[in-house]
Amino acid sequence: MINKKMEKAINEQINAELYSAYLYLSMSAYFESINLTGFANWMKIQAQEEVVHAMKFYDYLVERGGRVTMLSIDAPQTTWSSPLSAFEDVYQHEQKVTSLIHNLMDLALAEKDHASVSMLRWFVDEQVEEESSADAIVEKLKLVGEKGRGIFMLDQQLGQRAFTSPTGTED
Ligand code: FEO
Repeated sequence: MINKKMEKAINEQINAELYSAYLYLSMSAYFESINLTGFANWMKIQAQEEVVHAMKFYDYLVERGGRVTMLSIDAPQTTWSSPLSAFEDVYQHEQKVTSLIHNLMDLALAEKDHASVSMLRWFVDEQVEEESSADAIVEKLKLVGEKGRGIFMLDQQLGQRAFTSPTGTED
């Protein structure tokens, strides 16, 4: 059975992952509003991935005999000044999520909760990928600029992204 400290921290992380989904859906709606449908597609898939992250914590907590509690989700920002500004926010947000995961890992280690340490390793690795993919798009946006052919090509490229579960399962 999982201890109460860990249970509380995982419930907070479920909330943070669902907030991430909410934030990326808000960004998706922003991109739809400026007719960059490929960017909107990328964000929508990113939001789906965040729900998978939340559910991975949810299922883990249930499996360990913990009690899942849904906390309130803050309203995210609804508009951005440019695609670059939105993606800079994605990169910054992912860095924040990485620090939350690292804090959870620190707690699991302090509590000698080996099962949670093992589960959290997946998230530590996943965050390396999350930061790297956001940073790559920030750098591309800086290269192509905000208008013209470059942004159109990038929109087409991001429109190709299809959902594949980050956990490698059908969930
Ligand atoms: Fe769930 Fe994008 O980290």
